[in-house]
Amino acid sequence: MYHLWNLLWACLVSNPFYPHVPSSTGANTASTPSQIAAAAPTTPPSTLTGRLPALGWNHWNAYGCDINEIKIISAANELVSLGLKDAGYEYINIDDCWSLMQRNPKTNELVPDPSKFPNGISGVAAEVHALGLKLGIYSDAGTATCAGYPGSLGTESLDAATFSSWGIDYLKYDNCFVPKNWTDSPDYDDWYNSNSAIRYRQMGAALAEQSIPIQLDLCIWGDANVWDWGARVGHSWRMSFDSSPTWSYITEIIAINVQYLSSIDFFSHNDMDMMEIGNGNLTIQEQRTHMAAWVLFKSPILLGTDLSLLSSTQISIITNPELLAFHQDSTVGIPAAPFNASASSSASSIPEYYAGSSSKGVHVFIINTFSTSATKTFTIANVPGLSGNGPFVVHDMWEGSDLPGTYSLDSSFSIRVDPHDTVAYRIT
Ligand SMILES: *[C@@H]1O[C@H](CO)[C@@H](O)[C@H](O)[C@H]1NC(C)=O
Ligand SMILES: *[C@@H]1O[C@H](CO)[C@@H](O)[C@H](O)[C@H]1NC(C)=O
Ligand SMILES: *[C@@H]1O[C@H](CO)[C@@H](O)[C@H](O)[C@H]1NC(C)=O
Repeated sequence: MYHLWNLLWACLVSNPFYPHVPSSTGANTASTPSQIAAAAPTTPPSTLTGRLPALGWNHWNAYGCDINEIKIISAANELVSLGLKDAGYEYINIDDCWSLMQRNPKTNELVPDPSKFPNGISGVAAEVHALGLKLGIYSDAGTATCAGYPGSLGTESLDAATFSSWGIDYLKYDNCFVPKNWTDSPDYDDWYNSNSAIRYRQMGAALAEQSIPIQLDLCIWGDANVWDWGARVGHSWRMSFDSSPTWSYITEIIAINVQYLSSIDFFSHNDMDMMEIGNGNLTIQEQRTHMAAWVLFKSPILLGTDLSLLSSTQISIITNPELLAFHQDSTVGIPAAPFNASASSSASSIPEYYAGSSSKGVHVFIINTFSTSATKTFTIANVPGLSGNGPFVVHDMWEGSDLPGTYSLDSSFSIRVDPHDTVAYRIT
């Protein structure tokens, strides 16, 4: 089911030219683009949520539209029973297909589908909150969601108040069914004033008015230079098309994201999309790279599988305490970045060597992008952020143990890395 949906999404919905519906009123002569931009809200996002990249689960990759209260609450219980909550996972996020096709004719409010959610979304929120977790929901900055349910463009204040009244803590805000008069001109001096940004600014401001802090993920598929202005509107933003459980997705999203690392810091996260660990045919090594890449770039990590089917190896990948500590570090907000390992680094499709700092030291991540095992080598002195002349201790973050011996600045460190695997070290 999920890969069918993913195909549909990747081919149709994430294409920026699809689907646009005509404006209901045709030409709008009342306001020029600059008047619309001048009148658009500039309220910044809440600073009571979203400082660190989100950790949680979202139903979409596992279930698509086939959801109900039982599946959502089961996932919440599994987050607790599998030790994921203790590892830091917090959000249970409902994606598309939770509402009725029609709003309430009297109040115009969104209505949870009673056949899927007999206790409403507020009933789910009560159960999720009782487990010490937070609940997310989904809507769309257009006239309809990607699956055709009502969207929130033009009803942002009402919908934000509705979500708040249900106890919602997080909103994924998608980008389907944008009316023609809301599409972007080819170029803006400042994309914060683009029609796309204004559609998101309207919801951002409406959420910021609510009494409960609501984290906002702009599911804008990397449109409208979102990395330049996303942090003025929400807490995280999608960088591209939907994820798929394939090695090519992992390398493609790294290739995109690595160009925009300067956008990432506290309250400001490039979203590489929901996780695929547990889905498809990724090898264990590819799943380690998937986890490590989302960690080292500080992307939200929203698991996207039936948690009850995860193996103990998969659970140890997603709960690795040292990788999660880097991702959730409270003193360093910026991500790891590529570095020159040695004078003679071999070229590959994406950078293979990354270094970043945390409160615990300097970290090095090495991705073997090749489909054969390979020896990776770096010179200690080339690692940015190291201070002093050593001796340095190298600690394996996956294993949680120090490697034998010590290293000086001019030592070169070599390791054999499995095909498509990522090794992770802390150097102190
Ligand atoms: C598009 O048209 C609607 C309905 O007339 C109007 O409310 C909205 O401001 C217009 N949007 C833009 C960006 O012109
Ligand atoms: C996984 O492999 C099976 C068997 O080769 C194939 O049928 C299926 O399409 C693959 N799934 C994905 C998501 O690539
Ligand atoms: C990395 O090394 C190459 C080759 O020595 C050099 O051309 C390049 O400028 C270096 N890049 C950085 C960021 O130091």
